[in-house]
Amino acid sequence: MSKLHIMDTTIRDGQQSLWATRMHIGDMLPILPKMDKVGYWAIEAWGGATFDTCLRFLDENPWERLRSIKANAPNTPLAMLSRGQNLVGYKHYSKDIVDHFIAAAKRNGVHVFRVFDALNDIRNVVDNAEAIKACGGHFEGAISYTVSPVHTLDSYIEYAQRLKELGADTIAIKDMAGLLTPYRTERIVKAFNAEIGLPVHVHCHYVGGMAPANILKAAEAGAAIADTAHAPLAFGNSHPAVEMVTAALQESAYDTGLDLELLFEISNYWEEVRKRGHFNRGVSSLTHMQVYSHQVPGGMMSNLMAQLAVQNAEDRLPEVMAEIPKVRAEVGYPPLVTPMSQIVGTQAVFNVLTGRRWGVVSREMKDYLCGYYGKAPGRIDKEILKKVVGDSDVLDANVAPGSLVTTTFDEVAEEIGDLAQSEEDVLMYALFPNEARTYLSKHRTQEKVEFLMAEESSATKEGDYVDINQIRELVRIAEESGVGEILVEEEGVRVAVRMPGAVAAPAAAAPVAAAPAVPAAAAPAVPAAADDAARPASWKPVEAPMVGTFYAAPAPGEPAFVQVGDEVAAGQTLCIVEAMKLMNEIAADEMGTVREVCVEDGSPVEFGTVLFYVEPLGKPAPAPETA
Ligand code: CO
Repeated sequence: MSKLHIMDTTIRDGQQSLWATRMHIGDMLPILPKMDKVGYWAIEAWGGATFDTCLRFLDENPWERLRSIKANAPNTPLAMLSRGQNLVGYKHYSKDIVDHFIAAAKRNGVHVFRVFDALNDIRNVVDNAEAIKACGGHFEGAISYTVSPVHTLDSYIEYAQRLKELGADTIAIKDMAGLLTPYRTERIVKAFNAEIGLPVHVHCHYVGGMAPANILKAAEAGAAIADTAHAPLAFGNSHPAVEMVTAALQESAYDTGLDLELLFEISNYWEEVRKRGHFNRGVSSLTHMQVYSHQVPGGMMSNLMAQLAVQNAEDRLPEVMAEIPKVRAEVGYPPLVTPMSQIVGTQAVFNVLTGRRWGVVSREMKDYLCGYYGKAPGRIDKEILKKVVGDSDVLDANVAPGSLVTTTFDEVAEEIGDLAQSEEDVLMYALFPNEARTYLSKHRTQEKVEFLMAEESSATKEGDYVDINQIRELVRIAEESGVGEILVEEEGVRVAVRMPGAVAAPAAAAPVAAAPAVPAAAAPAVPAAADDAARPASWKPVEAPMVGTFYAAPAPGEPAFVQVGDEVAAGQTLCIVEAMKLMNEIAADEMGTVREVCVEDGSPVEFGTVLFYVEPLGKPAPAPETA
């Protein structure tokens, strides 16, 4: 046996587990040169949720982030987490997109690619593996660890064997929920060493605090690499502290060889960042400890609590916790990792809040039941399958779900057009179309505005200060209102913003006193309910079963599910209410005629908001319109 190698997860899994992935690149760069000197096996720096949070919340280009990290830590291999066929997104992408994405990640600085599939369905890993091998990256095949009657040591060995056949360089045991125990770890590492023969990498979330003991047992059993985080981003839902593991293994055959003093110096830096950003440190509460009974991962737990808070139902948490294992068993024991944790958790919330088990089902759950995410590890309850899927087709078991997605890189590139200026821009759009469009337009807008300012601000004296955010706001208003040109005069500074295509016509200019004086576009309000007395008694309301956003159509630009006057069958989809990041189809309870659509497309709805009035069939029609 020899020394245990350490992968640092501070800037990816650490901050994703404790800081909701809100760490800025500016927080990382100053310390990376020092981290580069530590001698970690790798720094996990990218992938997982970092890609979309860069675009959604941090106004950062994820590719630029990767390049800057690499430039500041040139000597340490960088690792990323890929969700298999979902890459760093939440749905399947085609083989062509996977090929381009992996090659681009490699080119921009990733060396180690840890690839997992939430269901341990090898078909969702094949395209990643081929792409990684093709570009010379390190392919780390990961098993999603969970505990269930169908997840046995043999099932894991069999899966690891498939990963090896795909060319895995290392095998990771990914214990996202903190369910591994020291002796389970020992058994699995020993078995992998004996049967698979590839270096074993253990990834144990701290959660209830078992991880340090697991790492110790893993080292003794012959594991090659373990994951840790710097103390200020360790513990709780994150990983064990690197200082702890380093100190524990000193004077043993597994000594990590890392310099404890250097590690403390780096942790001091992270502690300052933590305090400055008012971020919580990782703690293990009783609820965390109860993972040994309920198996719900920490991240999922915080999601559930946030979801219940939005629904004003925090007091229902114990019922939801009791419902999760039932739902999980009914759908074949999927490991509770993204996206299955959200899908199963949300179903449990619906079952409890609506009081009708399997009455409201997300589109994602339907897709899972049909096999579009991959093969369920165990058997799916036949009754539920029948009730939820109805006449929809269950995917042929011989068809790999990822093979159904055929959108090519070239098609995506054509769709985004000039807004994308590099392969990386196109990939950003392929994975997160809305976020990428916003991000790319905004940054292009800024260039455009700066150019226009130079052109138009003849009355502006040199040295005058104009706030770029104010300009952005003007561009937004101009775009939304369709006004070709907006003129602002404030304290003697005059700025004109003219939209592309608009004719410069001073007469048409809309003078605005100052940007803040322009009222912000109000969120579309739920139309005030018309006088109930005006509606025939036979019209029945269809109410929102949850707080969320109302969508009249399956996707933007597509026709609405139903219109006034349509006849609908029982179970027919009327609309979508997006809640908890899932698209929930709301179906008609009984056969009838849609009499009124009460909510505007895209509007927020509350629990109990009336969405439609449907008149059950057989009732007399209302007074004719000629009346
Ligand atoms: Co993790």
